[in-house]
Amino acid sequence: MKRIAVLTSGGDAPGMNAAIRAVARTSLAKEWEVFGVQHGYAGLIAGDLRALGARDVGGILQSGGTMLGSARCAEFRTEEGQLKALQELNRLGIEGLVVIGGNGTQTGAYALSQKGFPVVGIASTIDNDLSGSEITIGVDTALNIALEAVDRLKVTASSHQRAFLVEVMGRKCGYLALMTGLAGGAEAVVIPEMETSPEKIAADLRGAYDRGKPHALVVVAEGANYNAEKLAKYFKEYRERLGFELRVTALGHVQRGGAPGAFDRILATRLGAAATDALARGEHSVLMGLLKGAITATPLAEVVNEKKNLDLSLLELARVLAK
Ligand code: F6P
Repeated sequence: MKRIAVLTSGGDAPGMNAAIRAVARTSLAKEWEVFGVQHGYAGLIAGDLRALGARDVGGILQSGGTMLGSARCAEFRTEEGQLKALQELNRLGIEGLVVIGGNGTQTGAYALSQKGFPVVGIASTIDNDLSGSEITIGVDTALNIALEAVDRLKVTASSHQRAFLVEVMGRKCGYLALMTGLAGGAEAVVIPEMETSPEKIAADLRGAYDRGKPHALVVVAEGANYNAEKLAKYFKEYRERLGFELRVTALGHVQRGGAPGAFDRILATRLGAAATDALARGEHSVLMGLLKGAITATPLAEVVNEKKNLDLSLLELARVLAK
């Protein structure tokens, strides 16, 4: 192995830069050349790559986002797009590719590896919906941002007899919402994995004030059947079912743009180093992730075909602790 490339794709996640830095510097330590692909798979198709030296990845460890840029690329989902990307990799004499991202990104990585190209994935998405890693790069930072919002909302909630609703990201996965609810002491949590009804949410929120609590706050996952928009509409129409006003905060992309905390920097650094070690050993078509505390390689074939399960006993724990 003499020359590899690294890319980030899909939604950016805090810690991606730390992973890029680790991939680049461990490659240079192996005396390989390393290229950064601009804007994910779109840049790969366009042959938009540049050589990375040690100084090019300096000063990025502490910043959110991705210095390489990211994109959601429909063309790469096609056979034609993948063949174009392969052509570019071969034209530039690149012998291995490290792909940093979540579900859609690793599906693309698997497609390339199925065509015989050596690819190693790194688990990175704030959604934590990727098999092969119990926790992915960006989750911890995104969770802390959501918690900061919840803590602040509880302060203002304590001054008014109102209900507060916070919507967090996560696509179809309720992990961020569940953990935000658990760590933030929410009165109710709404996730796609366990649907509920507006009446039940109203009862939980009213119950909080009835039990003498100074606030009533529900954390809702964006992918839940009753998301912030639907619940806001419902309680506007049937205000009497709640008994008081509802204030809604959708955190959205705010959760993605933070500076990575210690956990994400360390996880990203370890996964980046493990990815180049895997390529050096000739191991590919795997995802590097964290399983039972150890950096572990899981075949991409398993990662893209398995659904990650959420521990629903924690939903019951959040409910019990909300008393
Ligand atoms: O996958 C990460 C994520 O932030 C999801 O939580 C969210 O649903 C989605 O990306 C938003 O995508 P976009 O940045 O394309 O709006």
